[in-house]
Amino acid sequence: MSDSHLITFCFLSCSILALILITFIFTRRKKPKFNLPPGQMGWPLLGETIGYLNPYPAVTLGEFMENHIARYGKIYKSNLFGGPAIVSADAGLNRFILQNDGKLFEISYPKSIRDILGKWSMLVLVGDMHKEMRNISLNFLSNAKLRTHLVKEVERHALLVINSWNNNSTFSALQEAKKFTFNFMAKRIMSLEPGNPETGQLRREYVSFMKGVVSTAPLNLPGTAYRKALKSRGAVKKIIEGKMEERNKRIQKGNASLEEDHDLLSWVMTHTNLSNEQILDLVLSLLFAGHETSSVAIALAIYFLPGCPRAIQQLREEHVEIVTSKKQTGEVELTWDDYKRMEFTHCVVNETLRLGNVVRFIHRKAIKDVHYKGYDIPCGWKVLPVVSAVHLDPALFDQPHQFNPWRWQDKNKSGSCENANVNMNLMAFGGGPRMCAGSELGKLEMAVFIHHLILNYNWELVGEDQPIAYPYVDFPKALPIKVQTHSSKHSSFSS
Ligand code: HEM
Ligand SMILES: *[C@@H]1O[C@H](CO)[C@@H](O)[C@H](O)[C@H]1NC(C)=O
Ligand SMILES: *[C@@H]1O[C@H](CO)[C@@H](O)[C@H](O)[C@H]1NC(C)=O
Ligand SMILES: *[C@@H]1O[C@H](CO)[C@@H](O)[C@H](O)[C@H]1NC(C)=O
Ligand SMILES: *[C@@H]1O[C@H](CO)[C@@H](O)[C@H](O)[C@H]1NC(C)=O
Ligand SMILES: *[C@@H]1O[C@H](CO)[C@@H](O)[C@H](O)[C@H]1NC(C)=O
Ligand SMILES: *[C@@H]1O[C@H](CO)[C@@H](O)[C@H](O)[C@H]1NC(C)=O
Ligand SMILES: *[C@@H]1O[C@H](CO)[C@@H](O)[C@H](O)[C@H]1NC(C)=O
Repeated sequence: MSDSHLITFCFLSCSILALILITFIFTRRKKPKFNLPPGQMGWPLLGETIGYLNPYPAVTLGEFMENHIARYGKIYKSNLFGGPAIVSADAGLNRFILQNDGKLFEISYPKSIRDILGKWSMLVLVGDMHKEMRNISLNFLSNAKLRTHLVKEVERHALLVINSWNNNSTFSALQEAKKFTFNFMAKRIMSLEPGNPETGQLRREYVSFMKGVVSTAPLNLPGTAYRKALKSRGAVKKIIEGKMEERNKRIQKGNASLEEDHDLLSWVMTHTNLSNEQILDLVLSLLFAGHETSSVAIALAIYFLPGCPRAIQQLREEHVEIVTSKKQTGEVELTWDDYKRMEFTHCVVNETLRLGNVVRFIHRKAIKDVHYKGYDIPCGWKVLPVVSAVHLDPALFDQPHQFNPWRWQDKNKSGSCENANVNMNLMAFGGGPRMCAGSELGKLEMAVFIHHLILNYNWELVGEDQPIAYPYVDFPKALPIKVQTHSSKHSSFSS
């Protein structure tokens, strides 16, 4: 072959190749594989993450979400947490996503959160290992246990906190609620008593751990919240291992059947073969899931109620009646039956969860190409069901920004709005196979705390605080309140 032939050949084959490439690209362009929802992808890499995470008042949807829904509708695409994402503010799609967990979707936290929660955390695991850990947690939080002895335990810890308040004093309601839920969990998980120095140490390490989980800049550099959190993880692990050693020694000595043997730690030590690392991650995920959430929910109730004196009045009537009828039978401690009788309180609890939105959205990703109502969700994309958007949707809840516990009363439930099955649209605890394992406990903690608060105190909000979504919900000033002992003969304190 001469040089000119070679050049011609090369030219020809190159052109053919280019042609094939161009037609390939062109036809791909012309026939998109996916019918994606509208939306914009934002900056490379960062996408729209910064706008999405911009803090806003927790009783609103925030500017980002409002603008995006107004522009694109309730289902839109974006680029969030380092990848393409579908955001859903649609009640039907949210239910579909949560119900199809494990089949079409699976949990997907950003890597930084995974690293810190631990690879065995309930909130990270998928498949059989998730099922096993969930089974352990459900066993620990079972309804049967709630009925028989957890009501008493929850009440004891609520009273310990509420009894310590002085008449006419001002303090952080959020801190008090956190004390309550933390002490309860520490007791249930490893029999730590509130006064115990170990409990204090665990709490301090846990708080530092938490700061790392919620820090938006998870860089493993000296001095960062993230680095401190990893250190605290190690410290918490030491505490747990110390407890486990104590127990092993005792079991060897044949000193069994203490009260301690009914806590989570003993249960996993005797009923499972989880490694120390697995137990650590389980304990941390239960503390994380079961302490931050319900304490913020209690603080939200304390925040909403003073704006609705009629609700305080009705709550007080309900709880006075319960205490009065208990006095007649000589019963002192609250029982499961008493809890079930707190009908209006249940409405207040639901309304607090709806308007306060402790958990605003849930992290998932598509593990298959999914088709939903004409849209495609490509395999591998993040999927974010935004439950707060459903809770604040005026098409589903009449005047959604109003704190109105009465909307949960049976007679009011079906009325007001079209297609409003209010029960179905409350997704504060998620749904499907990963629905909150502690939803019953969380609601019980709220109701019991409200019971003693309402019977014993009047309170007012001081210091102009309000809940902010970071997007985790927090009170920047930790919700300062001023309490006054309620001078009523129905005070629930046994004197
Ligand atoms: C009012 C308080 C609470 C709220 C709003 C809440 C909310 C949620 C939500 C939305 C999820 C689902 C996360 C997902 O699907 O990815 C969840 C999961 C979970 N929650 Fe709660 N929660 C609360 C209280 C509690 C309590 C008191 C516990 C007790 C330990 C708890 C334990 C858990 C656990 C273990 C999971 C993981 C379940 C799984 O992955 O199978 N939660 N919670
Ligand atoms: C869940 O735990 C119970 C014991 O509480 C056990 O009998 C059951 O086999 C477990 N199920 C799974 C799927 O691990
Ligand atoms: C609590 O303090 C208020 C004044 O701030 C007073 O009116 C009330 O009687 C006090 N209650 C008790 C039980 O001491
Ligand atoms: C209650 O506290 C206020 C200041 O917060 C004070 O002015 C008032 O004297 C106190 N009342 C009683 C009875 O302690
Ligand atoms: C079992 O241990 C407890 C303290 O953990 C101790 O008070 C008790 O005397 C021990 N009982 C026996 C039989 O060793
Ligand atoms: C426990 O041991 C069995 C086999 O004995 C194993 O199949 C299972 O995965 C282990 N569980 C954990 C949590 O390591
Ligand atoms: C329905 O809700 C309103 C408040 O929005 C309340 O005043 C009313 O009593 C409720 N009606 C019933 C039948 O519960
Ligand atoms: C609160 O919401 C849950 C979940 O939607 C529902 O099952 C329950 O009946 C509601 N409670 C009341 C009092 O409406």
